[in-house]
Amino acid sequence: MTTYQQRQRQLIENPRTWLITGVAGFIGSNLLETLLGLDQQVVGLDNFSTGHRHNLDEVQGLVSEEQWRRFTLIEGDIRDMDTCRRACADADYVLHQAALGSVPRSIEDPVTTNANNISGFLNMLVAARDAGVRRFVYAASSSTYGDHPDLPKQEDRIGNPLSPYAVTKLVNELYAGVFARTYGFRTIGLRYFNIFGQRQDPDGAYAAVIPKWFAGLLKDEPVYINGDGETSRDFCFIDNCVQANIMAATADRDQAADQVYNVAYGQRTTLNELFVLIRDRVAPKHPRAAAAQAVHRDFRAGDVRHSLADIGKARDLLGYDPRFSVRDGLDKAAAWYIRRFTAG
Ligand SMILES: NC(=O)c1ccc[n+]([C@@H]2O[C@H](COP(=O)([O-])OP(=O)(O)OC[C@H]3O[C@@H](n4cnc5c(N)ncnc54)[C@H](O)[C@@H]3O)[C@@H](O)[C@H]2O)c1
Repeated sequence: MTTYQQRQRQLIENPRTWLITGVAGFIGSNLLETLLGLDQQVVGLDNFSTGHRHNLDEVQGLVSEEQWRRFTLIEGDIRDMDTCRRACADADYVLHQAALGSVPRSIEDPVTTNANNISGFLNMLVAARDAGVRRFVYAASSSTYGDHPDLPKQEDRIGNPLSPYAVTKLVNELYAGVFARTYGFRTIGLRYFNIFGQRQDPDGAYAAVIPKWFAGLLKDEPVYINGDGETSRDFCFIDNCVQANIMAATADRDQAADQVYNVAYGQRTTLNELFVLIRDRVAPKHPRAAAAQAVHRDFRAGDVRHSLADIGKARDLLGYDPRFSVRDGLDKAAAWYIRRFTAG
């Protein structure tokens, strides 16, 4: 039995109450699915700014009626302190995912990104501290590495942020550190690297590359690559990310807390390679995609050229052991997007 399986078994035997902020979003709804599947009590908070009710409906269909009854939804905003306090009231663990994602969105509207991602984050820290939660785990970001040239990325070597979004995620880490030093409230930040998988939103101007390309190929629309396609990312399947959250929340080693960790698979894929991997998975079900070619256009402002994580720290201190490679994850994601776009 793996350490992760042991941890899951302990949770089933001794259920806890979890708060997931951003529960109607991509990562939040996947955390919800796993935790309800482990018979946990879950409170979810979301203002549905980028999340969707259909994500929650899908989770409802995937768990038993009894498990679904253990879920309480609070529709509200992390920019409102009373809402944060209400949400944290009974929580053992907080998995804080609510934020406005997307580098381009933050470049267009830095003020709104700042309000959600910094003021909202600070409210959540205060509310969780005052409620005495056991562990506060939050979504940090690989964008914090900014213009630092080293590869692979190691947690203690960061550069200058390249977008307002990256500033907000860096400030989250700074506040988390100050809360440990000032109030003894010790948190864990997970620097996600391009997470992908089921329920990642394919719609809207700020969709991420993998859902956008699945949608484009399945709808016979053009697929664009920003730049020459040799830009690379450490794409990480959602089930690895869920594992990292559960391992972080339940980590009992003292030195595991008051830290940030890379959450990635630890392998680099270029956009040109990614396009072929996605096309190969769509074409058997949608033959018109077989001949599709990506259209290259300008590089995008705020994007870093290469990204690759060293995941040694998460392995050592959290016992993080990602099981899904990029190819495994794309197989699963493909099945989901094909169902979504061919179901009418
Ligand atoms: N997906 C990735 O690759 C990735 C990479 C790095 C970091 N992250 C971070 O992970 C977290 C989750 O991202 P995601 O990809 O699931 O995005 P998402 O947009 O699908 O989910 C975010 C959720 O938060 C909710 N939300 C936003 N602002 C809120 C507010 N003020 N009050 C209450 N709810 C609010 C949204 O409605 C949405 O349901 C975010 O913090 C994001 O910055 C994601």
